[in-house]
Amino acid sequence: MSERRPAPRKRDRDVLDALGEMIEGRLKRGREKLGALIAEVRREGSAGDAEEFLGYLKAFLADPGVAAIAPSSRYLVARTLKALSLENAKVVVEYGAARGVLTRRLLRDLAPDARLVAVEFNREFYEHFSSRLRDPRLIPVHGDVTRIDEILAGLGIARADRVVSGIPFSFLSEAGRRELLAKTAALLTPGGRFVATYQITGHLIPLLKDYFGSVDIQYEVRNIPPCFVFTGTKTPR
Ligand SMILES: C[S@@+](CC[C@H](N)C(=O)[O-])C[C@H]1O[C@@H](n2cnc3c(N)ncnc32)[C@H](O)[C@@H]1O
Repeated sequence: MSERRPAPRKRDRDVLDALGEMIEGRLKRGREKLGALIAEVRREGSAGDAEEFLGYLKAFLADPGVAAIAPSSRYLVARTLKALSLENAKVVVEYGAARGVLTRRLLRDLAPDARLVAVEFNREFYEHFSSRLRDPRLIPVHGDVTRIDEILAGLGIARADRVVSGIPFSFLSEAGRRELLAKTAALLTPGGRFVATYQITGHLIPLLKDYFGSVDIQYEVRNIPPCFVFTGTKTPR
């Protein structure tokens, strides 16, 4: 038989009501703040529009490897471009081009005789950016960057001056992370840079120090989600 609890007395009810109102108010303000932040990043920060956002969300729900619910904000793109320092770069490789938000900006800054190999393993994303970005310098690849050595060999490219990555390294095993960093360092020209953007945690820092002569660490809060931007520079000869 179920016991009926005595109804709370008036004073207790008042306390519970006050608590409930306080929680409701906080939730409402939190929702409003989050809504305003998302609206601001969408309006000002993201290079894309509402369609871009929905494209990411859809892919994020369908493919765990996508690991992003929004394209890079313009703040993150600007920080990444600065870290890359593209002047004089002749061959640039992008790991995880997604819907091409960063790719488009890279093309804007690249020299007329440079080449950009942009690799993406989500088919929908690959088809999206490769059909929209028409540029003779762009070589779009539907593939897995853990096999970047084979991909570049297939294209007849031996070395790159810059590599920029948006892939979630946290999804790789420790051995997988090391293998990709070793391949990346090997393909860079002396003095070349590897910029790992969209990194949510700092777990890559000690590994980067094993493969690059110097490592710079930055953090961008104006992105969904806020993230690190690491730059590893290969020791010049
Ligand atoms: C955070 S998003 C990149 C965001 C993009 N740079 C931008 O500015 O919008 C990461 C992308 O990496 C792709 N990706 C993850 N692992 C990959 C891999 N091993 N090879 C190729 N692409 C990969 C995902 O499908 C996803 O599109």
